[in-house]
Amino acid sequence: MSSVSQAAKRITTHTLLKMKQKGEKISMLTAYDFTMATILDAAGIEMILVGDSASNVMAGHETTLPITLDQMIYHAQSVIRAASRSLVVVDIPFGSYQGDSYNALDSAVRIMKESGAHAIKVEGGKNVEKSIKRILSAGIPVMGHLGLTPQSIYKFGTYKVRAKEEEEAEQLLQDALLLQELGCFALVLEKIPHQLAAKVTAALDIPTIGIGAGGGVDGQVLVIHDMLGMNKEFSPRFLRRYADLSTIMTDAFKNYIADVKSGDFPSDKEQY
Ligand code: KIV
Repeated sequence: MSSVSQAAKRITTHTLLKMKQKGEKISMLTAYDFTMATILDAAGIEMILVGDSASNVMAGHETTLPITLDQMIYHAQSVIRAASRSLVVVDIPFGSYQGDSYNALDSAVRIMKESGAHAIKVEGGKNVEKSIKRILSAGIPVMGHLGLTPQSIYKFGTYKVRAKEEEEAEQLLQDALLLQELGCFALVLEKIPHQLAAKVTAALDIPTIGIGAGGGVDGQVLVIHDMLGMNKEFSPRFLRRYADLSTIMTDAFKNYIADVKSGDFPSDKEQY
């Protein structure tokens, strides 16, 4: 098979737009490493997000703020090596794009150049307009992220649902329209009322991907550790667990420990 026909199979921002137009839902999950991304890509996911949630689930930080640009690039490189079909989007981390649009462009270029990612995701609307414009002007596809934007957690003070009040809801709608006008190819809507998410989705031509935003959006995203049940303490209402890996892994580890201690492992067949 030629590399041209292989490239044609790749999900692109154009594929996603077509999916919205046809009313076909878009699936997205996070991944941070090669093995997980290999399984996800083979399962047929359309988009893989190298989220800055790596700061929480991979590094054990309380928030997404500490993860660095170098660390995001490292995770993105591992995921990109695995993704033969999925579109890989990488979060631009806190502190690498808000202050100055040239700094934002440098950060985005580093992600694209050093990891081979297909797009980046930026949290915020009007407040980061200049940075988004500058990144887009270099031909880098940008996914927006509105609603609960975890990099602003110290401003919000809580992980509760955003935009329940009229004023914040109207601001979010205006931000969504602005991001579309600037040229973003899609938006994440996080933890907002489902009626608002549906209204924003109907107002936009570009796809919306929800997390805790109900079913009236064009697609869904979850953090992979959460949906696999690896993190039992985190159980928000929007989360559906598709496996109980924490229990499966704990049982496996306990059985291994017991077998090592009893001498049952390795057996005659498991040695040279
Ligand atoms: O970092 C992340 O995993 C995200 C998703 C929650 C959308 O931004």
